[in-house]
Amino acid sequence: MERVNKICEHPVWKEQMAQLEELEQKRIFCKHGIEHLLDVARIAYIENLENHIGIDKELIYAAALLHDIGRGLQYTQGIPHDQAGAKLAEEILRDCGFDGEEQQEILDAISSHRDIQSRDCRKLAGVLYRADKRSRMCGFCKASGECNWSEEKKNHQLYV
Ligand SMILES: [Fe+2]
Ligand SMILES: [Fe+2]
Repeated sequence: MERVNKICEHPVWKEQMAQLEELEQKRIFCKHGIEHLLDVARIAYIENLENHIGIDKELIYAAALLHDIGRGLQYTQGIPHDQAGAKLAEEILRDCGFDGEEQQEILDAISSHRDIQSRDCRKLAGVLYRADKRSRMCGFCKASGECNWSEEKKNHQLYV
């Protein structure tokens, strides 16, 4: 997991995460800090093991740690964070030693992590999509009534 740890030490990742923390300080809805990113990584890895999907652990953690890295640019410049994130992630992945094929798989997953078409997919994109949704504890959230997620999308029960 050396390359995954390198992501968290990368100056672009650190800078974006610090800005995001600042920008989300007063946010009443779901935040996108390290807790969320690790929840997503772990839930995705559990699905990967339980369903024998066979995706490399490092790719799952890399995708999870980077999937919301574009959130700050969404808040400040209005760029959808899946697109902004994929752009930022490209440089980070290259610097952390992921090869071309691995970069492509992770970037595809980041770009499509909000795309309903990923919902039933058995590749990294699908695992990331499902883990991202399952990580949210809507049934325990005080802001659930004001949230723009549809009732159908919200997790009213625990995902186990
Ligand atoms: Fe996201
Ligand atoms: Fe997310």
